Amino acid sequence: MADTKQFDVVVIGGGPGGYIAAIRAAQLGFNVACVDEWKNAKGGPAPGGTCTNVGCIPSKALLQSSEHYEQAHHHFADHGIQVEGLTMDVSKMLARKDTVVKQNNDGILYLFKKNKITFFHGRASFVKTDATGYELKVAGAAEESISAKHVIVATGSNARALPGTPFDEENILSNDGALRVGAVPKKLGLIGAGVIGLEMGSVWRRLGAEVTVLEGLPTFLGAVDEQIAKEAKKAFDKQGLKIELGVKVGEIKSGKDGVSIAYTTAKGEAQTLSVDKLIVSIGRVPNTIGLNAEAVGLKLDERGAIVVDDDCKTNLPNVWAVGDVVRGPMLAHKAEEEGVAVAERIAGQHGHVNFNTVPWVIYTSPEIAWVGQTEQQLKAAGRAYKAGTFPFLANGRARALGDTTGMVKFLADATTDEILGVHMVGPQVSELISEAVVAMEFKASAEDIARICHAHPSLSEATKEAALAVDKRTLNF
Ligand code: FAD
Ligand code: NAI
Repeated sequence: MADTKQFDVVVIGGGPGGYIAAIRAAQLGFNVACVDEWKNAKGGPAPGGTCTNVGCIPSKALLQSSEHYEQAHHHFADHGIQVEGLTMDVSKMLARKDTVVKQNNDGILYLFKKNKITFFHGRASFVKTDATGYELKVAGAAEESISAKHVIVATGSNARALPGTPFDEENILSNDGALRVGAVPKKLGLIGAGVIGLEMGSVWRRLGAEVTVLEGLPTFLGAVDEQIAKEAKKAFDKQGLKIELGVKVGEIKSGKDGVSIAYTTAKGEAQTLSVDKLIVSIGRVPNTIGLNAEAVGLKLDERGAIVVDDDCKTNLPNVWAVGDVVRGPMLAHKAEEEGVAVAERIAGQHGHVNFNTVPWVIYTSPEIAWVGQTEQQLKAAGRAYKAGTFPFLANGRARALGDTTGMVKFLADATTDEILGVHMVGPQVSELISEAVVAMEFKASAEDIARICHAHPSLSEATKEAALAVDKRTLNF
């Protein structure tokens, strides 16, 4: 093995938490290395983690392709555009998605070079040493030994399998296999009506699959504001996405004819669902496989997440952890914010992440987006609040787009009018939510938004109108 290489900061994991932490640390003048083990189809490096390779990016690529198909199939005619002989080439869609992923992988490798970050392709694990407590070993094409003044662990998460039903990525698919289905399945089953279930269910439904989603909880999207979740459910029902709530999944059998899932309905009836493919999307587990955490006493919680304090410090001196492998929402932008904050803390600055203003987006059609507290959370906390809603039906731009589903909803403190939560379901709300995030970050009141000039005609006028609705003075409804 070559001599031990020394760095100021070594980041383990090249996903959004890791590669962004590495870039920020390099910007701050540190000598930085990033180690990532993800391999592309040819065995080469593919930094970007779950997000770039089998998460955010490829899912949005397929959501876009399938939405184009759905528009051409069902909605162009409303605009007077007739499409004859419409066909779809799933392999081309998948190839386009792979190209988008590769562009992102290459972009990150370029950013490493630009920022003079040393990249190691391989698996990093802790090795206990007498002198410094620990070092890192990288197992890749060559074995490397590296040491660092600071280590940032950003090893991400993996899909959770149902007990006794491992993923085979042929019939029983995780998010990875769900993004590689080579032909539209006639019948597709999903277990878990969470974010992946709805996004991936939407992709394959739009492309023609008969999709059934089995959800264990009796409520649909329990973390989402109830009114918004209800509106979204209505839209999904109309699209033909079958969602069964409150089910108990039993035995799953997989064979050459597909998959059968025995389950009990909310009413207690025994049922069997037979499908060609099954996607299991029941949450994700923090990933510390191969890190050799136990050898150096890196503390994990009962879920397997690395235990960190509010500053992302672990129990080991100068070892930090960020992203999916620690507590908090499993979102790319949350991982990135933590990565930046940790790099700044290492530099003696005051990196900060505001968990109250981390936005959520579900990229279905209609999109669902929110920031801050839901109405049910405010009620449970006994907080006095005012609510205002505005439907896209009354928004001129939405009518011109031909998509008037959904609404914007504001929740503001009853006394101070401070915005406590903003919830949206409808067209392009993934973009609209940013205004609400900015407003909450600056502790704005609903009145502040209501008094800001918004371009006409734009969907963002629905945001202004919902803010006006808090004071019961909408102008267009
Ligand atoms: P990861 O992205 O998982 O990266 C961890 C990296 O570390 C991986 O490359 C892994 O190979 C590497 N690694 C692990 N252990 C080692 C080791 N010992 N040595 C070397 N390398 C190692 N979030 C959003 O915000 N928006 C979305 O639209 C969105 N869509 C998603 C869609 C899907 C289908 C899925 C599954 C997830 C989605 N997410 C989305 C969640 C998002 O992907 C994660 O929150 C994000 O990737 C977490 O970033 P991370 O850096 O913590 O970990
Ligand atoms: P999830 O937590 O969003 O949803 C899992 C669903 O499965 C829940 O509704 C849960 O009640 C249900 N469930 C759990 N066990 C079950 C069982 N045995 N039977 C039936 N239902 C069961 O998890 P998901 O969809 O796997 O996604 C994982 C994470 O990835 C998300 O929570 C999110 O953090 C991230 N993600 C983010 C996206 C985005 O930001 N747009 C897109 C996709 C994923």
